Amino acid sequence: MSDKTKILMVCLGNICRSPLAHGILENKLDPTKYTVDSAGTAAYHIGEKPDRRSIAVARKYGLDITNQRAQKFIKQHFDTFDYIFVMDRSNYNNVLALATTAEDRQKVKMILNEVTPNLNTEVPDPYYGGDQGFENVYEMLDLACSKIADRI
Ligand code: 4NP
Repeated sequence: MSDKTKILMVCLGNICRSPLAHGILENKLDPTKYTVDSAGTAAYHIGEKPDRRSIAVARKYGLDITNQRAQKFIKQHFDTFDYIFVMDRSNYNNVLALATTAEDRQKVKMILNEVTPNLNTEVPDPYYGGDQGFENVYEMLDLACSKIADRI
């Protein structure tokens, strides 16, 4: 077993927000000490690359996320990962519904609580909007991931 610390980013489809959080945090951490991955609570996009708009905004900031492929969040992820960051309340409820122990439940955090503790601010779903939504999401996640990288 690897003794790396493992962090999972979760959204709904695993093609817009969590792939960005995955790529951003991975880029801020030492890969010999940390593993970062992402998943979605819905199965719609399993096996797909990130949305082209997430790929584009990541590329703008120097990150290549094109090797990522969407997977569904499953309860076994509680055994694999040390920290599970979700984007919104709906993700939180869907992930918590699969938790079986207090330890599982304690692993799950709203990612923007790393920036504004206890407010449960959501990362808005940019899927049905325009490119500006992806820029906003990138900026929110970059700040949150800086806080995570500083503390973890
Ligand atoms: P994500 O965005 O949860 O940030 O990946 C979405 C992607 C796809 C859908 C919804 C949200 N969808 O309904 O297909």
